[in-house]
Amino acid sequence: MDASKPSYVSATPEEPGQAPSGVASLCGGPLPLESIALPDGLELRCDDRGLTLVGDGLELRGDFTRMLPRLRQPNLSRELLVRAARVKGVAHPMAVDATAGLGEDSLLLAAAGFTVVLCERDPVIAALLRDALSRAAEQPLLAEAVSRMQLVEGDGAAVLGGLEQAPDVVYLDPMFPERRKRGATNKKLQLFQRLESPCEDEAALMNAALDAHPRKVVVKRPLKGPYLAGIKPSSSLAGKVVRYDIVVPAPSR
Ligand SMILES: C[S@@+](CC[C@H](N)C(=O)[O-])C[C@H]1O[C@@H](n2cnc3c(N)ncnc32)[C@H](O)[C@@H]1O
Repeated sequence: MDASKPSYVSATPEEPGQAPSGVASLCGGPLPLESIALPDGLELRCDDRGLTLVGDGLELRGDFTRMLPRLRQPNLSRELLVRAARVKGVAHPMAVDATAGLGEDSLLLAAAGFTVVLCERDPVIAALLRDALSRAAEQPLLAEAVSRMQLVEGDGAAVLGGLEQAPDVVYLDPMFPERRKRGATNKKLQLFQRLESPCEDEAALMNAALDAHPRKVVVKRPLKGPYLAGIKPSSSLAGKVVRYDIVVPAPSR
């Protein structure tokens, strides 16, 4: 965790699984390794382009620079996620992205002014995300937004349970089981999905989100997908392929 940023979490929760040895130090420790073999024929490589997941002749690297066109106004304000997460009358809103992945959705929220706590439980995805964040911090057009992003490696539900203050927004985008069955059209996504496991703890995530007492929970779903954990949203914003369900919890008594 970056000690120079305000912290919203008291402690990093324990990882449910152990990180493959050396992942945490790749590109980051005092003696960076050049390559780590992962199960399933995958490999993590570190070179001057950053940390890269390699497999099946494909490469996957976190890269926030490709998001730049979406971060420019008026594009940013038109993003469905930004519209769904908007909270009125809060000068410095705070969001928890409990299923951060490679952090692209979190970056949209940070660029829109949110401070974002990003939770990622897969150690390899978290290492790719950490590397992307540190490279983006050196990019003048990304540095300000990235300074509002704090990565916590661990389970999102556990992080939500340990927050020191209620977030304004909790964002959930767990992998939808159907997405894996159909197979991703995007080849880089196929590589990502070899690491990612389908969400089997929908209810735990949604309950932890609601128990954190946010103003709203925003959930990304496939356009025609069922509600997460069967909870009917207060409203939805639908795009061409995805939908953002907005759950506004009842005020606590
Ligand atoms: C579909 S991806 C999220 C993509 C992300 N919205 C983005 O913009 O890149 C889902 C991610 O959530 C992670 N994940 C799923 N359940 C989680 C949990 N309970 N806690 C933390 N991370 C979780 C997975 O490992 C995966 O990286």
